[in-house]
Amino acid sequence: MIESSINMNEIKDIAESWTYEAAAKIKREMNESYSVDTKADEHDLVTEVDKSIETFFADKIAKQYPGHRLMGEEGSFKDIHDLNGIVWILDPIDGTVNFVHQRTGFAISIGVYQNGEPLVGIVYDVIQDEMFSSVKGQGAFLNGVRLADLYESRLDRSLISFNSGWVLQDRRLEALIEQARGMRSYGAAALEIAYVACGRLDAYISFNLAPWDIAGGCAILREVGGVASDYEGKELSFMGKGTFLAANPGVYKEILHTVHTS
Ligand code: IPD
Ligand code: CA
Ligand code: CA
Repeated sequence: MIESSINMNEIKDIAESWTYEAAAKIKREMNESYSVDTKADEHDLVTEVDKSIETFFADKIAKQYPGHRLMGEEGSFKDIHDLNGIVWILDPIDGTVNFVHQRTGFAISIGVYQNGEPLVGIVYDVIQDEMFSSVKGQGAFLNGVRLADLYESRLDRSLISFNSGWVLQDRRLEALIEQARGMRSYGAAALEIAYVACGRLDAYISFNLAPWDIAGGCAILREVGGVASDYEGKELSFMGKGTFLAANPGVYKEILHTVHTS
């Protein structure tokens, strides 16, 4: 399928309307009792709601776009071994620990990719009602208002974000904390990447993210001139887990310099 034959705006509009529908479903289901299970360890939670939202999108996509494939966190990733054609990369709830413990600070994240290239990005903060979206070559938006392109900022004027526990694993983060103006932790990768795109943050770092954590945010970030790669500066594959760095272009260069020299 060639890109020009794909209506990216239609995909974005449909993805947005399904996302609003899914968010209403999450709000209903979070007020009923739901089961919570652990996955890899006690930090890694999954609820009945995560699974029901993935099923909701799987059904919608199969019906509307039978030629598209779905790589979702809660099971549908198992059938995806490459990014050929059009793949919807879905995190039904990003920030499940926030969802369970705080009942806020979580998002639905969708990246629609063609042959590994982002076409459409959606990151929706369900409780704050903030819809970040993008279409390739047409910019990124927050609740329909176009986001400004990122100008080259500096690390000493930056707010950077990562889960504070990562400092125990990589002491180079201490050098970044010293250089930055401040740091924050939100516990939802998709939102943190969207915050870099809209300038609320200047960088976000993680050491263990999956394609569904980053696909929506990366599509959005690219449209405003932000940069994303792994923590060492290598290109992301969107297949399998790895380290991650998303940043304002100026801050990105300074962070990589620190990572490679400290
Ligand atoms: C997690 C969140 C968290 C990040 C974890 C992710 P989940 O996603 O994005 O902020 O630190 O690595 O797995 O499990 O809530 O979808
Ligand atoms: Ca996630
Ligand atoms: Ca999730």
